[in-house]
Amino acid sequence: MRTAVIAIITGTGTKTFIPGGTKFRIGTPYGPSAIITLGRIGNKNVALLPRHGEQHEVPPHKINYRANIWALHTLNVERILATNAVGAINLKYQPSDFIIPIDFIDFTKCRPLTFYDDAPVTHVDVSNLYCPELREYLFKSAKKRINRTWNDAVYLCTEGPRYESPAEIKMYRSFGCDVVGMTGLPEAILAHELNMCYSTLCFVSNMAAGIQERVSTKEVAKEGQMIKNMIKEILVETVTNISRKRNCICSHTLEGARV
Ligand code: HPA
Repeated sequence: MRTAVIAIITGTGTKTFIPGGTKFRIGTPYGPSAIITLGRIGNKNVALLPRHGEQHEVPPHKINYRANIWALHTLNVERILATNAVGAINLKYQPSDFIIPIDFIDFTKCRPLTFYDDAPVTHVDVSNLYCPELREYLFKSAKKRINRTWNDAVYLCTEGPRYESPAEIKMYRSFGCDVVGMTGLPEAILAHELNMCYSTLCFVSNMAAGIQERVSTKEVAKEGQMIKNMIKEILVETVTNISRKRNCICSHTLEGARV
């Protein structure tokens, strides 16, 4: 039987890195998942899922987030470590910084956003969307390598695929958003809805629109290329070191969520 205890979801600039694993897609009630590679890191079975597809062919607003998270759930995955490129809105951050968000603001517009479209009506609490235990592991491992690692940022997700306007960035800053990306949501929320732990290691690829002259995808991908080996090291170290038993309350997310 195919199973994995932990999954890694990679994004722009970072690629699948389990050599020789088994590859497959999983059919779900929401359609087929992205290609998943199942392999081992240390003594753990790990599922790797590049959210944009193996050739980076799926744009942020077209990713089938529900199929991907559902597929990982059917593999018995309990924890997800993700990585996202972000632009910095808060001027204290700079390109190449690592960011492990603590909270989020959702400005996506037209993505299927929940597994709970039908009865029983379900409202999950997202006071602690990002798993504190995973965040701690990621933070320690990233900070050892790059001192400019931050764990206090509010992640803003926009719909994309365009970048933001300078005026939008000004508004988002006034709302308390620190970094901006296009793929962190609803991915994290969907994982939470299935009682899974989720945390993401973001890298700053650029200053957001209006802070620098223009934003370019080449620049985002280049920063990803430069930092990808370190991201891999941090994720592998986190998977290797983390205890199998979860020491957080993420598995209780659905308690009290229904009338
Ligand atoms: N905006 C939105 N998404 C991004 C950015 C940005 O500036 N940089 C990397 N992903």
